[in-house]
Amino acid sequence: MVKKKVFVCRRIPAAALQRLSSEVDLTVWPAELPPSRAELLQHVEGCDGILSLLSDRMDAEVFQQAGPQLRVVSNYAVGFNNIDVREAHSRGIRVGNTPGVLTEATADIAAGLILATARRFSESIDQVRNLEWKTWDPLGLLGLDLKGATLGIVGMGRIGMALAKRMHFGWDMNVIHTARTEKPDAESLLNAKRVDLATLLANADVVSLHADYNPTTHHLINSSTLAMMKPNAILINTARGGLIDQDALYNALKDGTIWGAGLDVTDPEPLPDDSQLRTLPQCLILPHIGSATIETRQAMADIAVDNLLAGLHGRPLPHEVRA
Ligand code: GLV
Ligand code: GLV
Repeated sequence: MVKKKVFVCRRIPAAALQRLSSEVDLTVWPAELPPSRAELLQHVEGCDGILSLLSDRMDAEVFQQAGPQLRVVSNYAVGFNNIDVREAHSRGIRVGNTPGVLTEATADIAAGLILATARRFSESIDQVRNLEWKTWDPLGLLGLDLKGATLGIVGMGRIGMALAKRMHFGWDMNVIHTARTEKPDAESLLNAKRVDLATLLANADVVSLHADYNPTTHHLINSSTLAMMKPNAILINTARGGLIDQDALYNALKDGTIWGAGLDVTDPEPLPDDSQLRTLPQCLILPHIGSATIETRQAMADIAVDNLLAGLHGRPLPHEVRA
């Protein structure tokens, strides 16, 4: 029997790739940077399955180029805003993602960003590195206390809940949240009330974004919603960069509308060389490392390969995106 043809858009942990290579006719994009659009279109031709990353846009043009035999697009990520899911489904292509396994690693990065922003790690590290540390300064690098402060989780899903547990049990933070549905666990475990976005923004000392990114949440944080936040508030984003209007965030940080920001995601990624956000001391930016632990990336690779193989065999995916 002819082996199914699969294109993997980047190198992922080796064990999962080996499992794949024994079953399919496999091409793995070998470079450090993603394939260009032209390279992507060239490589998907004739494929039955694609293993994509969040940097690869999967849309009608890609599906068309691949051909009618394409059965599955397996995303190596929990987020899938890079995929036109409706278009895929209309062509009978299944879409998979990797939820669950990256929850704790991503919540750790969100918690780390809260501490690092509140206590000004980035400026502190720079001071030491740049030989600017002169003395123990009674008034230097003063940050914010977290104990007893209010954490607002925008989008109380798995990652939001994992972060809320850390900050509630570890730092005695009060938790409030927004969510599309009631979250009985949040209420019973953390005494966390569900509120509307305006109430959350007006009351939270730390606002952490965990919402899906889609056309309805594009620039959810903009000049008007930033103006609703407290002047001493911190904004954290480990979800998707497009949730925030970055120009509005730059202005809000510069003019003191809010106190600081910790971002693991930006729009675009990487930030352009001339992005002004990078120049602000009170804005700490990480290069999208939420899921970047050895164990988590292996677990994501296992799920992505399981999804891919199921799709190639015409079976429902273990973690299927239902649109
Ligand atoms: C990473 O951002 C993911 O969606 O897995
Ligand atoms: C992602 O896994 C989430 O539900 O937050």
